[in-house]
Amino acid sequence: MNLIFLGAPGVGKGTQAKMFSSQLYWPHISTGDILREAVRQATPLGLEVKHYMEGGELIPDQLVINIVKERLEASDTFKGFILDGFPRTVEQAEALEEFLSSKKRPLDAVLYFEASTEEIVTRLTGRRSCRSCGAIYHVVYQPPLNQDRCDKCGGWLYQRSDDQEETVRHRLKVYEAQTTPLISFYEEKGLLRKVQAAGSVEGVHSLVKKILGLA
Ligand code: AP5
Repeated sequence: MNLIFLGAPGVGKGTQAKMFSSQLYWPHISTGDILREAVRQATPLGLEVKHYMEGGELIPDQLVINIVKERLEASDTFKGFILDGFPRTVEQAEALEEFLSSKKRPLDAVLYFEASTEEIVTRLTGRRSCRSCGAIYHVVYQPPLNQDRCDKCGGWLYQRSDDQEETVRHRLKVYEAQTTPLISFYEEKGLLRKVQAAGSVEGVHSLVKKILGLA
């Protein structure tokens, strides 16, 4: 299946995308992860996007469109993919539509994850991520066995610089202004499937499976 996971920062898209990707072998394409890795390695792309990401701003459309197009040319995406964090503007969505239709690889569904702002702030401010394998934890909801180490690979856990409460609230404003128009964009195309994402990780996972006909 060719899927988009859409929703506010911190709603749980990455957590669910990683679970589906490891169970079903659909590549999980997270533009945030790709960009963070570029920043970590201080590549020319990383140096260009660092200040946007630290401030909770979106990076320029054309940069991220090129990254995704290049990734979707790789053969491991031909049987399906999960896009997480892309598209985030109407311009990105239109570019994706044009690209996929030129390849005759249409989208199957856009899963729109919904939760309250306060729940999202709680999730993001408590998030910890593994520096080595990217696994996601939460200090209360999904705590690691050892406070600072990843259960899966033993890597160090860290708090993302954009997960400070002030930046989180700014990211939510950017999301409202620039990404929510995509809800009606995909609704009009009959692709949008709403996911009530306020429940537990396992509960949300079961819901998505049901929606995709995989239960
Ligand atoms: P990105 O990395 O994409 O961040 P985001 O969309 O803001 O989303 P997050 O990764 O923060 O949240 P998530 O929904 O994946 O939540 P998660 O599963 O981790 O983007 C970062 C930056 O990169 C952007 O600000 C921008 O600068 C740039 N960028 C990226 N893509 C771009 C694009 N297309 N265009 C322009 N710029 C772009 O979960 C969060 C926490 O909640 C975790 O701790 C988790 O354990 C916990 N949790 C998850 N599910 C549950 C649950 N059901 N119950 C309880 N806790 C839960």
